[in-house]
Amino acid sequence: MSSPSDPPNIVRAGSVAAEEGRYPAPFDAEGLSFGRDLGRAAGSERFGVWHEVLPPGRRTSRAHAHSDEEEAVYVLAGPVVLRWAPRGGAFTESVLETGDFVSFPAGTGVAHHLLNPGPGTATLLVMGTRASADRCTYPEDPDLEVWRAENRPQRCWLDEAPLPWPARAATPRLHLRPWQPHEARALWGFARANAESLQPWMPWAWSVPSVSAYLGLVTDWAKAALERRELVFGIFTPDGQPLGNVGLHPRGGPGSLEVGYWLAESARGRGYVTEATAAMVQLAIRCIGVERVELHCHPENQRSAAVARRLGFTYEATLPRRVADGRGGRHDVMVHSLYAEQLDASPAAAFGVRAWDPLGRVITLAKP
Ligand SMILES: CC(C)(COP(=O)(O)OP(=O)(O)OC[C@H]1O[C@@H](n2cnc3c(N)ncnc32)[C@H](O)[C@@H]1OP(=O)(O)O)[C@@H](O)C(=O)NCCC(=O)NCCS
Repeated sequence: MSSPSDPPNIVRAGSVAAEEGRYPAPFDAEGLSFGRDLGRAAGSERFGVWHEVLPPGRRTSRAHAHSDEEEAVYVLAGPVVLRWAPRGGAFTESVLETGDFVSFPAGTGVAHHLLNPGPGTATLLVMGTRASADRCTYPEDPDLEVWRAENRPQRCWLDEAPLPWPARAATPRLHLRPWQPHEARALWGFARANAESLQPWMPWAWSVPSVSAYLGLVTDWAKAALERRELVFGIFTPDGQPLGNVGLHPRGGPGSLEVGYWLAESARGRGYVTEATAAMVQLAIRCIGVERVELHCHPENQRSAAVARRLGFTYEATLPRRVADGRGGRHDVMVHSLYAEQLDASPAAAFGVRAWDPLGRVITLAKP
């Protein structure tokens, strides 16, 4: 029984309905477990938790492996049979009894699922992290793989190597690429020269510490891009003059990335950031595969809100006191979003964007 004094993240026993799991049509003939999504009901953001009842003769899912999401299962009432196989290898079976626990780390390619051969009903607590860039492989189901390649290309994990995030990109007027370690001094000087005009809107600009701090920053960005967590590019003219910075940051919760940017004062008023942001939106949705790009700005930052409007973002909300202002206080934040299904019809799709992976191969920006 819920009580009016409950905090919002309690889910009381029996308050979440069980739903029978099924794959989308045309693979929906088979009923899977009856799952209660406790994680979402309780507001859990970074991992999912399901209470699953598995009737005799059923399986939790088709055998699959995730690129980025880790899963784990605790057997509340067994036994169940774990079927698993290393990538490209044969399947093996292990019996899991009540109280047994199994985890499936991400990226190993070990395909797995659980079956209940009966006669009793099995109950499981299934947990999994959420990762916006996650992809999945179904080694025993070529038909499902073909369907997914047509319908969810960004979610397919067909080979061992993870899809690389873009290493650089170009638009008609701009080159977008990471700052290099030898450019740390130039970036520091560039940020310092523009700090005063950035301070009202970007808290970091109150402290532009040292060249070595910027060397650390450039190195961190390179690592984050290789690990497919965050993508920060300098905005340059084709002949290499720096204009500003643009990035995709993992701050907006599962399935989303937040785009952020700034321009040197001398580069404003020419549409450069609109063009660079359009490119990042296309990369986020068509290459990285997020469901949503968010754009956050100070409610008084009209030039930034204008970028969101120009590209077809939708204003969603103004959240009170969400962001540190760099001087010990906090300010409200305006949230705009652009969802994957809105991209094609949005002005953000009108910009020609080319992108390359770290080996210099062209990345095809497929429609989501
Ligand atoms: C936010 C910020 C990046 C916006 O810069 P901006 O120059 O206004 O944005 P754009 O580069 O997209 O340029 C758009 C302007 O160029 C004009 N423009 C000129 N040529 C253009 C072209 N070819 N295409 C599009 N716009 C063009 C537009 O009319 C518009 O000007 P207007 O607002 O006077 O109508 C910039 O003000 C800034 O760096 N501010 C400080 C940091 C900051 O606030 N960052 C965002 C934090 S949320």
